[in-house]
Amino acid sequence: MTAHHTQLQYLPADLKRELLPKHVAVIMDGNGRWAKRQGLPRIIGHKHGVDALKDLLRCCKDWGIAALTAYAFSTENWKRPQEEVEFLMTLFQRVLRQELREMLEENVQIRFVGNLQALPRILQEEISRSMEETKDNRAIRFTVATNYGGRQEILQACRAIADQVKQGLLQPDEIDEATFERHLYTAGICDPDLLIRTSGEMRISNFLLWQMAYAEIYITDTLWPDFDRAEFHRALSAYQQRERRFGKV
Ligand code: IPE
Ligand code: IPE
Ligand code: MG
Repeated sequence: MTAHHTQLQYLPADLKRELLPKHVAVIMDGNGRWAKRQGLPRIIGHKHGVDALKDLLRCCKDWGIAALTAYAFSTENWKRPQEEVEFLMTLFQRVLRQELREMLEENVQIRFVGNLQALPRILQEEISRSMEETKDNRAIRFTVATNYGGRQEILQACRAIADQVKQGLLQPDEIDEATFERHLYTAGICDPDLLIRTSGEMRISNFLLWQMAYAEIYITDTLWPDFDRAEFHRALSAYQQRERRFGKV
């Protein structure tokens, strides 16, 4: 661990514990640009991106944030060059296997959301095992969106609800927000309070469309592999300045 991390091991004194977000979501963008800037192949950026995510997870745990969700692979990311897609799938599988022990020791609950059935079989097996072995852990809930698309999540919820209506188990006018939420991949996880997107892009890119209704959005030009505790501190400071009105005055 670097000296820098040690300095920020505890919640910085200027942040108010009672005003921390309960759930932080991150769109980890900019790995490719980070690599390109140094004349390296894009995949090296993804490797460094993993290190940034590992430290953010530890940081959330150290600072007392209850839930972290990270966007790792979108339903649109399959359109990237096959070589990059294959590298990412292998990277996810390897990192998951390497990190499982630490997640168990650190009491981390990991969960994956997305169309998991379409992932390589061997990755699906690592995913199932990690979710099963960490399901009772309570220090932090860590959700990884993999082959995730917000529209696709909403569609599969609609299909499941329509099926219940067809079977006569549910009346159309009984479908409320709670019914809908139970059919989302994120059932049981509270909505994100803060969305962070790195590398300056001002868009949602099909991430948690339903859940993001009232999230505060923080965008930084920093590229994901450079997103460290000092950056996270800045994001939380900005969040604590915001006035969340939820439609009220
Ligand atoms: C985010 O970084 C990682 C994934 C989408 C898997 P990018 O790979 O999108 O990096 P840029 O946006 O091309 O720099
Ligand atoms: C969003 O980043 C997806 C992930 C971070 C996994 P992209 O790089 O795919 O998004 P766009 O293409 O810039 O919208
Ligand atoms: Mg990108």
